[in-house]
Amino acid sequence: MINLALKKRFTAIDIGTDSIKGVRFKRKGRRLFIDRVAMKHLPHDSIIDGSIVDLAVVSNRLNELVQELNCKKDKIITTIPNNNLIIRNMELPAMADDNRLAEAIKWESEDHLPFPVESAVEDFKILSREDNKVQVLLVATKRDVVDNIMDAFERISLIPSVMNIQPMALLSIAEYQNLIDDTVAIIDIGAAGTRVVIGDNRNIYLSRNIDIGGSEFTRVIMEEDKLNYNEADNVKKRNGIPEEEEEEMSLELAISQIATTGLGESHNLVLLARNLAEQIERSLDYYNMKYRRNIEKVFISGGGIKLKRLKNIIEDRLGRELLSLDPYFNVGVRKGSDLRPEEFAVAIGLGISEVLPDEG
Ligand SMILES: Nc1ncnc2c1ncn2[C@@H]1O[C@H](COP(=O)(O)OP(=O)(O)OP(=O)(O)O)[C@@H](O)[C@H]1O
Ligand SMILES: [Mg+2]
Repeated sequence: MINLALKKRFTAIDIGTDSIKGVRFKRKGRRLFIDRVAMKHLPHDSIIDGSIVDLAVVSNRLNELVQELNCKKDKIITTIPNNNLIIRNMELPAMADDNRLAEAIKWESEDHLPFPVESAVEDFKILSREDNKVQVLLVATKRDVVDNIMDAFERISLIPSVMNIQPMALLSIAEYQNLIDDTVAIIDIGAAGTRVVIGDNRNIYLSRNIDIGGSEFTRVIMEEDKLNYNEADNVKKRNGIPEEEEEEMSLELAISQIATTGLGESHNLVLLARNLAEQIERSLDYYNMKYRRNIEKVFISGGGIKLKRLKNIIEDRLGRELLSLDPYFNVGVRKGSDLRPEEFAVAIGLGISEVLPDEG
């Protein structure tokens, strides 16, 4: 069930807030190989809330990435930011033809969008047809968001032919590796935020954005230590979240420490991590309540999870293990590449979703 009509070479590009990731794939028969991976860091604030504000800088970095991957002639697959992305399950009456269904979805979607339907780009996937009903997965975003990404590509005369959503890309990895028996959750901790996606091989049941990502931790250190963004980001990567000693400390000692050092960045980093963990828990709980089903496995991805101790804090809160999603499993890759599985998950998932049936 592999899509054999696909061109032999194709490249997936994920423009993230912290960096652009590119992965060049080669398909040999039914096997997927990674030819090359590349990553270009972006200056802080060139993308804000998923929108590229410094198009010149981003397209320059994109150009360098394309040169490095040597992918100018490939089919290009890319993704859209998670901000403003709407994913909903809808049920409609069965219709004679799919054009009418598309029309009906458009009408119906008005109730689901927090922005006018005229300013939206929509797509849908038919999940099932039973008992005169059609189950549909609606995906929508603002047209501006898509145009903004396209502008960056157009500036270097490259036109992506597929735009997929990140939750789908991440679920594709789990599907490709046969990790899904029932329902799984994937938590992607990027720079601008954290996304929780809950789904299976066919459907996305929940997709949530939490606005705490790696940058938020960096900002706490910036303020506390009076550093610029890059300096603070380095301190963060070096030190991680400190141990929560204060709970074992005697009250007097704690008070005397606060008196001399203030509450301290360590305390604020712990609080931020706990806040994030609590919001993740709330998303999982919401799914459990709404669907009355358990989540089989919880996977993690994104550079933000490399923050030392963050994983433990989330695991403690959820009371369950977080599994690393290894996007390279079952995909051939050249030795010596800088693999960074956390950061490259979305880009590799975009490529994988191209070779899975019923997608792309
Ligand atoms: N070793 C590390 N320790 C702590 N944080 C890290 C480490 N390595 C990377 N990060 C953080 O991970 C984040 C980048 O992750 P990632 O590349 O997944 O984000 P992105 O895709 O660019 O952003 P987004 O998806 O939010 O648009 C940054 O905040 C960075 O500081
Ligand atoms: Mg990302």
